[in-house]
Amino acid sequence: MSTQARILMVEPTHFDVSYRINPWMKPDLWAKEPGRLAAAARRASEVLHQALVGAGCQVIVGAATPGLPDMVFPANAAIVLDGRALLARFRYPQRQGEEAAFLTLFEGLCERGLLTEVAQLPPGCYQEGAGDAIWDGNRQWFWAAYGPRSSEASLARIGEFFGREVVPMELVSDRCYHLDVCFCPLSGGEILYFAPALTAQALRTLRERVPSEMLIQATEEDLARFSVNAVNVGRNVIMATPTDRLRSVLAERGYMVTPVDLSPFMMSGGGAYCMTLRLDRTSAGETAGHAREPETALA
Ligand code: ARG
Repeated sequence: MSTQARILMVEPTHFDVSYRINPWMKPDLWAKEPGRLAAAARRASEVLHQALVGAGCQVIVGAATPGLPDMVFPANAAIVLDGRALLARFRYPQRQGEEAAFLTLFEGLCERGLLTEVAQLPPGCYQEGAGDAIWDGNRQWFWAAYGPRSSEASLARIGEFFGREVVPMELVSDRCYHLDVCFCPLSGGEILYFAPALTAQALRTLRERVPSEMLIQATEEDLARFSVNAVNVGRNVIMATPTDRLRSVLAERGYMVTPVDLSPFMMSGGGAYCMTLRLDRTSAGETAGHAREPETALA
């Protein structure tokens, strides 16, 4: 029996789309019907919450702060491993107020015994949490991005703090402003990714480190639906409504996909993964993953 995945979400109470710091954000559309969209966002957040519970996760819901609409994306708040959290430094002033709000929230998690340590990066060293530093439990390293949001200098800090290998993945486009928009390691060792988001060097690194049968290419449409931004717990994959193609590719590899309509959050450039933050990841090796024999991947 594996230990239960513990996931932080933030209440959607103060979510809206009132500024534009990535090309998916639609403040003009939001402004046309803020009431209806805010209600739709509350429902969508609840559906995601229930899908996570249905996948066996324990969900902890943190309080939101008025005026910080993107707090609803806690994947950007910190990197968490072995009970230790390294808090984010946000690139854009619109989100920098979240640093203090999340510090308070994470100190509360320490008091509840859900974390043991909360640390901060030096000012000016931008790093947007688990959205840009994705722990790969099978390989025991972080895939860490820099480019649109996080600074290249953050990678060394992550490595020092966690004492784990950090594999650089430079991002080239504003559409894929965080790694989690375009890159998703799965429990069986596969990586779902959108190749045009990565530099030639990042692609070489990926192909050197991951056998080709474990690489699943996402399409433009998968990207635009925010399906790559998925939460994977064991065999369960919870994602913003995927295409039939992606759903069957994952089913062939043994995953059960739970689609969730996250359209209000996609108007901010977010999907399922960034609305969550795993608090229970350990570097001791994942027990929740489903073991696969090497070489058995379907073509
Ligand atoms: N509006 C938010 C931003 O641009 C969306 C963040 C989504 N998070 C993520 N990890 N992809 O910062």
